[in-house]
Amino acid sequence: MSASAPQPIYLNDYRPPAYRVTHTELKFDLVSSATRVIARLHLERHPERQEGELPLVLDGEQLRLLHIAIDGQALEDDEYDVNESHLTVYRVPSTFVLDTEVEVDPEANTALEGLYLSNGMFCTQCEAEGFRRITFYPDRPDVMATFSTTVIGDKGSLPVLLSNGNPVEQGDLPNGKHFVTWDDPHPKPCYLFALVAGDLQKVEDHFTTMSGRDVTLQLWVEEENLSKTDHAMASLKRAMKWDEETYGREYDLDRFMIVAVNDFNMGAMENKGLNIFNSAAVLTHPQTATDATFQRVEGIVAHEYFHNWSGNRVTCRDWFQLSLKEGFTVFRDQCFSADTNSAPVKRIEDVSFFRTAQFAEDAGPTAHPVQPDHYIEIGNFYTLTIYEKGAEIVRMLRNLLGWEAFRQGSDLYFQRYDGQAVTIEDFVECMAEVSGLDLGQFMRWYFQAGTPEIDAIGEYDYAKGEYRLTLRQRTPPTPDQHEKLPLHIPVRMGLVGTKSGKDLSMTLEGESLGTDAVIHLRDEEQEFVFTDIAEAPVPSLLRGFSAPVKLRFPYGREDLAFLLQHDSDGFNRWDSGQRLALLALDDLIAAHRNGVEKVMDSRVTEAFRGLLTTDTDDKAVLAEMLTLPSEAYIAEQQPVVDVDAIHAARTFVKQALALALRDEFMAVYRANQSDAPYVPEPRQIAQRSLKNVALSYLMAIEDEEAVELARNQFEDGHNMTDVRTALTLLTHSSRGDIADPALKAFGEKWAHDPLVMDQWFSIQVTRPQSDALERVKFLMDHPAFSLTNPNKVRALIGAFAGQNRVNFHRADGEGYRLLADVVIELNKLNPEIAARIITPLTRWQRFDESRQALMKAELERIRAEELSSNVYEVIEKALA
Ligand code: ARG
Ligand code: ZN
Repeated sequence: MSASAPQPIYLNDYRPPAYRVTHTELKFDLVSSATRVIARLHLERHPERQEGELPLVLDGEQLRLLHIAIDGQALEDDEYDVNESHLTVYRVPSTFVLDTEVEVDPEANTALEGLYLSNGMFCTQCEAEGFRRITFYPDRPDVMATFSTTVIGDKGSLPVLLSNGNPVEQGDLPNGKHFVTWDDPHPKPCYLFALVAGDLQKVEDHFTTMSGRDVTLQLWVEEENLSKTDHAMASLKRAMKWDEETYGREYDLDRFMIVAVNDFNMGAMENKGLNIFNSAAVLTHPQTATDATFQRVEGIVAHEYFHNWSGNRVTCRDWFQLSLKEGFTVFRDQCFSADTNSAPVKRIEDVSFFRTAQFAEDAGPTAHPVQPDHYIEIGNFYTLTIYEKGAEIVRMLRNLLGWEAFRQGSDLYFQRYDGQAVTIEDFVECMAEVSGLDLGQFMRWYFQAGTPEIDAIGEYDYAKGEYRLTLRQRTPPTPDQHEKLPLHIPVRMGLVGTKSGKDLSMTLEGESLGTDAVIHLRDEEQEFVFTDIAEAPVPSLLRGFSAPVKLRFPYGREDLAFLLQHDSDGFNRWDSGQRLALLALDDLIAAHRNGVEKVMDSRVTEAFRGLLTTDTDDKAVLAEMLTLPSEAYIAEQQPVVDVDAIHAARTFVKQALALALRDEFMAVYRANQSDAPYVPEPRQIAQRSLKNVALSYLMAIEDEEAVELARNQFEDGHNMTDVRTALTLLTHSSRGDIADPALKAFGEKWAHDPLVMDQWFSIQVTRPQSDALERVKFLMDHPAFSLTNPNKVRALIGAFAGQNRVNFHRADGEGYRLLADVVIELNKLNPEIAARIITPLTRWQRFDESRQALMKAELERIRAEELSSNVYEVIEKALA
């Protein structure tokens, strides 16, 4: 907390550090409320900072300094200064050794940054700026040092003592203590430092690298979780292999460790050789985790592993470059998951999520470029824009260069910058160099915030056999960026002949492009004239979501139904279905608002009938095609969001489809039931998702038979995917309390398992019925709930505010008030989580005036508190 307003930091002010650390020696004497950290830093003046005399300024927060010496000589009081954020030593030699000893209090650390306790175990989270809560240090990613770390702890309660690298020495000490010393030979920034100590058990496996080296793989968990490690271990081995085969990247230490901890702000962290995971992002068991969780775990394990190269061996010069490692690594994990599972479904899922959540971020008050040029609190910049939009930009580069050249660019990047801290420009320059492409205009993707919008129109000239496509781009203004320049936008497309239903050959300016091609939009407006087009086409634009933009084209409903059937691009087939449903939903939203009778568009019903009755071998894609756009995505399309009308319209469509196609859904449900033992493999997952989509339609009309199916599926207890779907459908049903016995049984059965209790909370608080808010309050008093555990906060408060749109946006403002109360509490306990959980309140501009006023009043109420820099920055932007 700070009394004076926190100040922004600017990219333009970047300078290399005055002093760098060549080697870091740490010794931890672990005690819950008073841990001693002894640090010996080998420092030298930076070659580029030779101007005059410079004081040594180190970062340090919440540290009690006990001792300080330079080259063995204790410092006098007037030779240094310590305040709440820095240690300054006024005069230092050009090469020297700094010794410090500090005391920290892990037990009091509820922010979960730095060294803290989770379930009695010590662990660390240092990215972005947590290391300064461990010892005085130049806490910035361009200072890279080798580390030698000795961990001392009580042998009885802390039998396992881990840090980065390889263990080199261990032994017993007096007073029932023991120690282990770890050496990490790879120079690293301190944000990749990690320490874990606790009563942990391990599962061990091995991986032989491409050059034949043996790597020991260890997964460390609390004893009761030993049965939940198989999938993460298998995923890790697949990821290691994939990175060798796809990017030529080999692992570089003798051991790779993953630790699961219960209290963790994010998903996981790529600390060198010692990844620390939120237990929710690593533990799985068929009885406790859904298919979606199995897939998420696989993706996150791969993501953190891939960071070993894209992030650790080559790291970021400063935090404005965060997307250098995150965008590239997300792209890598997306491709890995696509290769391991169903590629089209992976793309549909990623784009669905992106268009809902990232588009909303890009259109809101916290919009920022993928390479921001200023920030107040870097912890607020672990965003969908940095991660997901960053990944979309890397994907566009891959598509622009083609895989071969992209891989050469990646090789060049890793080879040229190995062991260095670099910039986004350095990465793109490698891509430009190997391909000879001019990526100058392309770089604007990194500098400009906001989602570009493309308005497309097309005209077919029968007489000339020409199709003219006009594309016009515009990026709306965002906070602190009013003027936008045109971007270089790759638009992958085809022209689907209306007679043949086939992709037509395209010729542009005399050049033959084939039936599927990328055209490049660079100007504000550009016309593309395709010649020798023998039949009238329907254009299929932005195939595979080839650029992160909104594309409008005046499709008629027949056009969309046609594309849904004939588009050769699976992604666009799905998207045409979504667009068709959105048009129908639009009418129904208007009908609801005007109080007129709702009528279902028969074209949607017929399209669904077609889907349900045509044989397909891709059940995963079919399940996606049968899924209506989410309320959040529908809301994205509305000028003023009317949550009630959206909910009513979407519910109406589900019921109308279920009524018209009841037998078809029933047939699909029955055809996809299976007793086969649970395996998280693509075919089974596809079958389960199709079956469960069918059940969700059947439950929309809530007849006896459907309820019976759901009850049976719940009671069969075959696997968590099926159980959770059934329990959710029963709980979200409007038929009174039909779910109560199941909810009770579930809550009792899993009371001991925090990850399952998270699901139990979420299922209840996302219920559309009007008692949801009361339920949130009631469950906040449940013994399994805790405001200091981020998973619980997300499961209960986050799920309510983010997913239960009708109840969070209650007209009486009680939903907003509840969220603000939680933010005010969390601001004191865990600022990073507090700042994240506010998000739904920051989107007030999207709602009617009365809700706007209520939401702003709650933001003002938060603003009146003494705020952490995290919450301060978000609130100031939201109220600007
Ligand atoms: N680098 C981590 C990842 O993407 C995220 C860590 C962010 N942590 C934080 N406290 N902001 O895998
Ligand atoms: Zn990451």
